[in-house]
Amino acid sequence: MIARLVGLLACAALAGHAHAADARFPKPDRPVAPIIAPAYSTEATRDRLGEAERVMSRLSLTPGLRVADVGAGDGYYTVRVARRLGPDATIYAQDVERTYLDRLATRLVAERLPGVTLVHGAPTDPKLPAHAVDVAILAHMYHEIENPYEFLYRLRPSLAPGARVAVIDVDKPTAEHGTPPALLRCEMAAVGYREIDHISLAPADGFLSVFVPRATLPDPARIKPCRA
Ligand SMILES: C[S@@+](CC[C@H](N)C(=O)[O-])C[C@H]1O[C@@H](n2cnc3c(N)ncnc32)[C@H](O)[C@@H]1O
Repeated sequence: MIARLVGLLACAALAGHAHAADARFPKPDRPVAPIIAPAYSTEATRDRLGEAERVMSRLSLTPGLRVADVGAGDGYYTVRVARRLGPDATIYAQDVERTYLDRLATRLVAERLPGVTLVHGAPTDPKLPAHAVDVAILAHMYHEIENPYEFLYRLRPSLAPGARVAVIDVDKPTAEHGTPPALLRCEMAAVGYREIDHISLAPADGFLSVFVPRATLPDPARIKPCRA
C-alpha cells in the first residue's frame, strides 16, 4: 500500500515546473492575497464546526468520484476525502508550493492513505491530468491565485463531463484572504463557469459555492476583468 503511494508521488513530482504568465489573459482588477500558510485555521476547530463533513455531504462525495483538492496545503480536505472514498479512490492533492506537498506526502504515508496522487502545479496552471476530475475542491485558496482567469481556463481541460468545481472561502475582501461571493461569481462566469449551488457553512467559517463549466472556453482576449 505504501509502496503504491510512494510510486505515485514520484511520478507526480515530475509534473511541476515554472510557468510564464500568458499575456492574453487580463489581470484581476483587485488585490491577490499572498500565500502565507498551508492551512486555514486548525483542523480540530474546523472539524468541531463540521466544515468538511458539511462540504462532502453537500457535494454527495461517494466512491467512484475522482476528486482534486486544489491548493491542498496540509491536506485538510485530502485526508478527509480519502477516508470517505476509501483506498480505491482517485484523489489528486495539488499545490503550488513544493514544501507543502512534501509535508503532505509524509502525512499520507503516516496516516496510511493510499490512492492520492500529488501534483505540483504552477501559479496559473493546476497541471491536473486531462478529463480526470469529477469534483475539484478549491478550499481557502481562490483569493491567492495569481491570475484566476488563466487558472480557471487551464483547469477546464482536467474536468470530466459533468464535473463540478467547489469553492470554499470566507466573504471578505481578497486582500484579507477571502472572496466576496459576487466577485467569485463574476470571475467564474467570465471563464464560462455557472454557479449551481451556494450555501453558508455556518457554524463553520465561510461559504461553499459550486460551479459547472460550459462546454466551450471563451477567447482569453475577450475576458473582461471583474471589479471587487
Ligand atoms: C490557506 S491555504 C489552504 C489549504 C487547504 N486547502 C485548507 O483548506 O486548509 C492555501 C493554499 O493554497 C495554495 N495555493 C495558492 N495559490 C495557488 C495556486 N495558484 N495553485 C495551487 N495552489 C495554490 C497555497 O500554497 C496553500 O497551500
